[in-house]
Amino acid sequence: MRGNPLAFLDTELHALREQGLYRRLRVLHGEQRAYAQIDGRSVVNLSSNNYLGLTTHPRLRQRAIEAIQQYGAGSGSVRTIAGTMEIHLELERRLAAFKRTEAAVVFQSGFTANAGTVAALLGRDDVIVSDELNHASIIDGARLSRAAIKVFPHRDAAAARAIVAALPRTQRALIITDGVFSMDGDLGALPALCDVADEFGAILMVDDAHASGVFGREGRGTVDHFDLHGRVDVQVGTLSKAIGSLGGYVAGSKSLIEFLYHRARPFLFSTSHPPSVAAASIAALEVLHDEPEWMARLWENTRFFKSGLAAHGFDTGHSESPITPVLVGDAALAMRLSDRLFESGVFAQGIGFPTVPPDRARVRTIVTATHTRDELQFALDAFARVGRELGVI
Ligand SMILES: Cc1ncc(COP(=O)(O)O)c(C=O)c1O
Repeated sequence: MRGNPLAFLDTELHALREQGLYRRLRVLHGEQRAYAQIDGRSVVNLSSNNYLGLTTHPRLRQRAIEAIQQYGAGSGSVRTIAGTMEIHLELERRLAAFKRTEAAVVFQSGFTANAGTVAALLGRDDVIVSDELNHASIIDGARLSRAAIKVFPHRDAAAARAIVAALPRTQRALIITDGVFSMDGDLGALPALCDVADEFGAILMVDDAHASGVFGREGRGTVDHFDLHGRVDVQVGTLSKAIGSLGGYVAGSKSLIEFLYHRARPFLFSTSHPPSVAAASIAALEVLHDEPEWMARLWENTRFFKSGLAAHGFDTGHSESPITPVLVGDAALAMRLSDRLFESGVFAQGIGFPTVPPDRARVRTIVTATHTRDELQFALDAFARVGRELGVI
């Protein structure tokens, strides 16, 4: 009789349980909101990327419904065959205007935008110079490209410069950084990396997944925040976080976008978004322009919550964004802190290896524009109580 060739999976899962790293998927009942129903419990939700609360904004809902009525539920094909609808092109025009670039191309997700773009731009003779904490999608794209990968210490532009300076002058090189680092909430060393790219003629790419809708004028991202327009060759963003819908995009020159139309494998080989996703994303860009109060509230809440955590004595690292980690070190302790918070009515995800280094486990918090002061105060009180109980503070 045939044995179970997947038996090793149970061994691995058992090991995760033993290490306290096994995670059951939590289930959201109803909408993605600041105060949400999760696993049958009402909790202050500090775990979504719904920075501006746009997942439930009436304008996005309405436009998605209208698009379904007008165009149907799906697109039915990949973009390069029959799956490019006028609404996809309209979204790309709007994104290019938003990012102040010549053109933009939309992918199915931020993950595929990063991975597909890095793998398309670089080949086995090239070099990728990458911040050590860059997102998994960048790392996967770099591996797929087969280029040499040289990692520089987090935010250390001098180290990146030393790597690039040691390359032959004719070497094609890509310097790449997250705009906002998703686990630490700090900003990439973008201005200094721009200088390195200028000095050596390297390509510069930024993944602004957590910066679009959060940093810069009207949420244009870190390139706008640092006033670096025209100096970053490849800007990636997502539509899945502050924009409140789904997808990723690349903004840059016309040649870059046309090249990606021909060479980015997720664009070529995976079906395009349902029209409702494109419609909701367009509506979100309009909201960013018409309703600046969401960004203002996001930042007021961010300042309030960060200063509250610091006042209680938590180690929150070097965050400069609405993502604030509460660093505890040990993964099992991070998971216990997260579980006890949940029992106390606060959902803040525990994060351990391999997402972060083994000794840098944490509970990650993300505030949104739609949290009330009372909700944030409730969460701060719970953090203080449980943090003391577990000896974190
Ligand atoms: C820094 C970063 N880049 C890219 C992504 C992928 O974006 P998406 O969820 O749209 O695939 C994420 C998170 O999911 C992220 O945190």
